Amino acid sequence: MRVVDLDRDMRDVIPTGTSRDSEFLFGRMTEVTLGRTRPGPGRRILDVAAGLGQDAAQLASDGASCIGLEPSQRMSQLARLANAPGHGLGPTFVRGWGDALPFASDSFDAVLCKGSLDHFDRPRAALAEMARVARPEGRVVVAIANFESVACRVSRTWDGFREGWLGRELPRGRRHYDVPHDHFTRYQLGLMREQLGEVVEVDCVEGISLAWGLPGWSRVVERLPGFAADAALQVLDAVAGRLPGFADVLVLAGPPRRSATASE
Ligand SMILES: C[S@@+](CC[C@H](N)C(=O)[O-])C[C@H]1O[C@@H](n2cnc3c(N)ncnc32)[C@H](O)[C@@H]1O
Repeated sequence: MRVVDLDRDMRDVIPTGTSRDSEFLFGRMTEVTLGRTRPGPGRRILDVAAGLGQDAAQLASDGASCIGLEPSQRMSQLARLANAPGHGLGPTFVRGWGDALPFASDSFDAVLCKGSLDHFDRPRAALAEMARVARPEGRVVVAIANFESVACRVSRTWDGFREGWLGRELPRGRRHYDVPHDHFTRYQLGLMREQLGEVVEVDCVEGISLAWGLPGWSRVVERLPGFAADAALQVLDAVAGRLPGFADVLVLAGPPRRSATASE
């Protein structure tokens, strides 16, 4: 039996807009991921695990012919409602699994999967499918949270110190460095590179944002004057770009390896 929530409704878990550093992180994640698909008129793009469909809609508004694939009935319905095209062509939404893409081989200029692969029960098979449906000169773009970011490592160590050495009780609930219950895989750079590298010639590895979730960081950013907060976030983001292993989010991309076949 597959343990995937087909009624999944993400509206109450998307933390965008809650703080300046979260907004920055999610904004940059979207900007870089969509940018790596090289959107534009005439491009055929597939968004695997499209969620509420906002990225597919953005790509369509940039002129691409975009399909959003999503297994959850509720999310697909919300995506259709939220992204009904006003003018011009909007995205198309299709229900389906990432590991059994209902599309012909070599049929997309780009395939993206943003913030979702850790939710998949068969991520390797899904990556093989993404490589299969991408054209030989196309792009497969994957964006994923890094659970070995410097922020996760420091926060984990700090909490261990407070609990183990100072005897403090930690706040109840999941810490941001713990894998959520609906994730199957705990990704970090090495694992993501290894899994994607099996089916894609990875030629781009980019880190996004640094320090998200560090104790006190969000409050510091809120208290800084706007220009200083923006400058700090941008400088750290530039460092993350150079040192992806430390970054909060990883974006990896490249053309498909043509020998790629579903392996799970
Ligand atoms: C955190 S949401 C991300 C949605 C979207 N990409 C975004 O960035 O807002 C993860 C999505 O993965 C979908 N999902 C889970 N397992 C899947 C699978 N095996 N194949 C395709 N999508 C899946 C869920 O239904 C959910 O919509």
